[in-house]
Amino acid sequence: MKSLDDLEVAGRTVLVRADFNVPLAEGPGGARVITDDGRIRAALPTLSDLRAQGARVVIAAHLGRAKGERVPELSLAPVAARLGELLGTSVALVDLADAPTVVAGMAAGDVVLLENIRFDARETSKVDAERQALAAELAALADVYVSDGFGVVHRNQASVTDVARLRPNAAGRLVHREASVFGGIMADPARPFVVVLGGSKVSDKLGVIGNLIPRVDRLLIGGGMAYTFLAAQGHAVGASLLEADQIPTVQGFLEQARERGVEVLVPEDVVIADRFAADAQTAVVGADAIPDGWMGLDIGPATQELFASRIADAGTVVWNGPMGVFEMTPFAAGTLAVARAMAASGAVTVIGGGDSAAAVRLLDVDESAFTHISTGGGASLEFLEGRTLPGLAVLEEGP
Ligand code: 3PG
Repeated sequence: MKSLDDLEVAGRTVLVRADFNVPLAEGPGGARVITDDGRIRAALPTLSDLRAQGARVVIAAHLGRAKGERVPELSLAPVAARLGELLGTSVALVDLADAPTVVAGMAAGDVVLLENIRFDARETSKVDAERQALAAELAALADVYVSDGFGVVHRNQASVTDVARLRPNAAGRLVHREASVFGGIMADPARPFVVVLGGSKVSDKLGVIGNLIPRVDRLLIGGGMAYTFLAAQGHAVGASLLEADQIPTVQGFLEQARERGVEVLVPEDVVIADRFAADAQTAVVGADAIPDGWMGLDIGPATQELFASRIADAGTVVWNGPMGVFEMTPFAAGTLAVARAMAASGAVTVIGGGDSAAAVRLLDVDESAFTHISTGGGASLEFLEGRTLPGLAVLEEGP
């Protein structure tokens, strides 16, 4: 994969696709406040490098799913402000229609951010010609294209794939690192290779589990999806999350794992609650003893210890999905235990983006203790599913 080092950028205009799809909350006076700027920080190595080399930097990014509508709450204005603070320069937010004039007036080292590219319906159009028309407008702004939005490389969208075909291109620092970390793990993981999966829905992870069983040594299952595993083993799960229609598929996975000698660990004990609330009544029970009407909302202390011991001697650990409802303090201990065990291990440790990355930041675990925290939610899952990611594949083609 071509990297920034293979691209001539000095004195040129560079179009960078970044993933600035950050979580926002309503702040004082109705202002929108970024609650986690991890994805903006992750773009800094590429942006700083381009500026240091004297490039003019034009960034395309999206926020939410605007579906071709100009949605004021999905403006990238808060991102432009935060990016400016982090780079120590002003970053103008520019509508695509005004971009040719603004870009013509840029100086070396200047950075502009195009307004939410998904305000333009052509970005996500399924019609090739529509996407290509937008891609041509984007390409006309720049001499070269840098793909640095790892979180969107699983999308076949104008600013991700089509525009890359129109200009000399390369992966930015972030995409290069993400692709080499995940690629290395899938090709030749240090063993034992342990994957920790959680999150609410087992159906979201079926592709990942199916692809990983032939590759891993251990699968540790927690979070909401664990209850479908427990049900597949014949346990009653009370009012816990359950995808009953997935029980046969999960039983098939358990069978495959047995045949291949892959250790699959499900919770031995769970923290149950009488309702889904931070102030619910709670108890710790064996995973085979969840009473009717109660729901499991976290892995219990014995499981935390068990999972930590299986992480401690690993060569590689990949984690995707929280172990419980970590946003509520009574159900955060399982997620925290996995994060701490990974941080303490000497293994190659990778956190697949989305909720698990947010959990690490929210629970104040030292981020530098992990080998890699991915910025890609869906993208990192699709990588683990073994799928071809169109935004990466296009970088292997010629311009
Ligand atoms: C993400 O948040 O995972 C990426 O920004 C992709 O967003 P999307 O799922 O709306 O394409």
